This record gives sequence, C-alpha cells and structure tokens, in this order.
Amino acid sequence: MALGSVIIGSGMALPAQVVTNDELGQIVDTTDEWIVPRTGIHTRHIAEHETATDLGAAAALRALGVQEGGWLREGAIDPATIDMVICPTLTPEAHFPSEAALIRERIGAVNAVCFDMSCACSGCVYGTSTADMLLAASAADRASAEAAGRTPRRNVLRRILVVATERLSRLVDWTDRSTCILFGDGAGAVVMEWREDEEGMLASYMENTDDTDHVLWCDSAFCARATPFSPAREDCDPYMRMAGQAVFKFATSAMVRSIETALERAGVTAADIALFAPHQANERIIRYAAKKMGQPVERFQMSIGHTGNVSGASALIALNEALTEGKLQRGDLACMAGFGGGLTAGACVFRI
Ligand code: ACO
Repeated sequence: MALGSVIIGSGMALPAQVVTNDELGQIVDTTDEWIVPRTGIHTRHIAEHETATDLGAAAALRALGVQEGGWLREGAIDPATIDMVICPTLTPEAHFPSEAALIRERIGAVNAVCFDMSCACSGCVYGTSTADMLLAASAADRASAEAAGRTPRRNVLRRILVVATERLSRLVDWTDRSTCILFGDGAGAVVMEWREDEEGMLASYMENTDDTDHVLWCDSAFCARATPFSPAREDCDPYMRMAGQAVFKFATSAMVRSIETALERAGVTAADIALFAPHQANERIIRYAAKKMGQPVERFQMSIGHTGNVSGASALIALNEALTEGKLQRGDLACMAGFGGGLTAGACVFRI
C-alpha cells in the first residue's frame, strides 16, 4: 500500500523592492555585463520594510490558501490543523522566539509546535525531508498505539508547514562585489500531510561535510560583543563570506551526487522526473548539473534570474513557481535539491 508525505499546498513571497544589476553598479564596481553571464541574475528583491516574519507568514498563508496566489492540491487548509512549523533560516528576526514561532503566531497555527533549522541553502531539502521523517515516525507511533489499544507516546503529527524565509540582505557586505550581487530576500513554503493511500515523498538524501577551509562562512554578530569577563573576538566578521570558485566546485559535485542518490533510493531515473527544482545559487551551476546528468536544462526550474540566491527558500520558490505555472501535474515526479553552508547538501524525490 502506498503511503507517504504529500505536498498539499505551496506558497512564496518576495519583497516589493526590485534591485537591478545597474543599481548595484552604482554602489560597487560591477556591471550587468559581468553579472548576467556568470550568474544568470538580472534582478533580485531586497526587503525595505518587510521582515523575515512578514515574508514567511505571507508565503505560509498562500501555501494554506488563506491568501491568494499560492498552489493548492485540493482545497484551502485551516491553519489550526498544522501540527508543526519548521523554519529553515539564516536570518531569523530574533534568536528567540524561533522564527517558526513568530510565523505560527502570525498565521494562527495555534496547535503547532515550532522550531528553526540552520542548514543554509539546503533548508528546502533538510526541512521537507525532516518533516517527512517526523510524519512517518508519528504514523508508526499511532499505528502501534492503535494495535496496543493505548494512546500515542509522541506528539501526533499529520500536517507540517515547512517555511523558509530569508533577509539575506542583512548578512551581505554591501562593499564586497563578489557576494553582494548574488543574494536576494524572500520566502517559500509547503504544507506536507501524511496520507495512508498516496506515495508523496518517495525518497530523500542529506549529507554534511566539514567546511575546513571556510569556503562559506558568516560569524554570529555575538562574537563582536565584549562582556565584563571576556573580550570581543578580534577577528569577528558577521558578514557572509564565500570562496566563489571552491563553492562552485563543491556545489556542482554535491548537487549531482545528491540528486543521483535520491533518485536511486526512490528507484527511479532522472528521465522519470518531470521537473527539478534546484537551489538557485547560480544558473551556471544548474546548467552544469543538467549537462552532467544528461538531462535537458528545460526540466530544471530557473527562478534565479529575478530572485537571486534566496538560500533555503530558493528551491521552494522555484517549486512554487513551477506549480503555479502549471509545469507540474498531479501524478508527476519532482525532485528538489539543495547545497550550501555547513557544508550541507541533499535532494528529495516526490510525487505531486
Ligand atoms: N563584478 C565585477 N568583477 C567581479 C565581481 C563583480 N561582481 N566579482 C568578482 N569580480 C572580479 C574578481 O575581483 C576577479 O578579479 P581579479 O581577477 O582582478 O582578481 C574576477 O572578477 C574573477 O573573480 P572570480 O571570483 O574568479 O570570478 P568567477 O568567475 O569565479 O565568478 C562567482 C564568481 C560568480 C561568484 C562564481 O565563483 C560562483 O558562481 N561561485 C559559486 C557561487 C555560489 O554558488 N555561491 C553559493 C552561495 S551560498 C549558497 O548558495 C550556499
């Protein structure tokens, strides 16, 4: 019997302000001619007044069908039926409460338990894969409780909201042309529901390797603080830093390895996938992965041209755009892939 975690709603939100490459050329030494061929990025959305919570809540409300503009598999979803909110983010509004808890309050998910995840640009995959594992564990717990005629021993989880939200513009060093051109702000969300009669997520894969050379790094702003008993860290650097070429090398191999492992676990081939929704770090990375896998690049959703890199929200935004554009139909297989700081990477395969 097929059973699994099915995506029943999807949404996204981008800040109103659009920043062009020419505008960036007015603050750092760069040009549209340099940026577009190397990255595929034409514009990105940069929050002016929107907070990470505003963006996350808007994406979530669209995924629930409370606000228009999202994709719903069947119908609108009552926020009170959400059992858990998982928020992959690098830029929460507060250290606590969690960003997930702030979004819970905003959307009225009054029965949800909440936590954030720090896994950089793999948030799309780490978030949905973890949600899938928890939904499966809860289903097994409920089944054994029912067989034994007792109540479940763990929280009952039937619906989980995964909402990745980022205000990366606050982590960016706006004097560093090698990074400030790449990133944007935004949020993406999915609602996942456990079904006893559908496949949903077929397989997932997550990995973490040591970033010994610090190719992707951002110190916490805390390290700049002295206390009465200790000095501030002298080398504290609370801005995003990246060794571009090393990251490019890691990203291309990690994306292909992750997708191939998830496909193998799912017992399908790349040709069976109707659409890939990869992390949007760089159009060249996506093109390279498509070529390496012998797949037409048209089957890889590209949002980067107008969003830039929105970290863990990127692939959820790409997936939402594919769903709302009608590129994925019920029964199609899709694959999401991510890679980023940590160094993290992963992929998951699911039936729409
Ligand atoms: N405009 C103009 N010139 C620039 C810019 C810019 N915005 N940025 C760098 N340059 C210059 C450099 O200073 C260098 O000049 P030099 O040779 O005089 O020193 C030259 O361009 C080449 O620099 P490289 O860093 O070698 O440029 P490269 O061709 O590697 O492209 C890029 C840089 C686009 C960042 C590329 O390395 C890349 O895409 N890396 C992967 C990025 C990525 O995916 N990051 C992921 C982000 S985090 C995440 O998603 C997990």
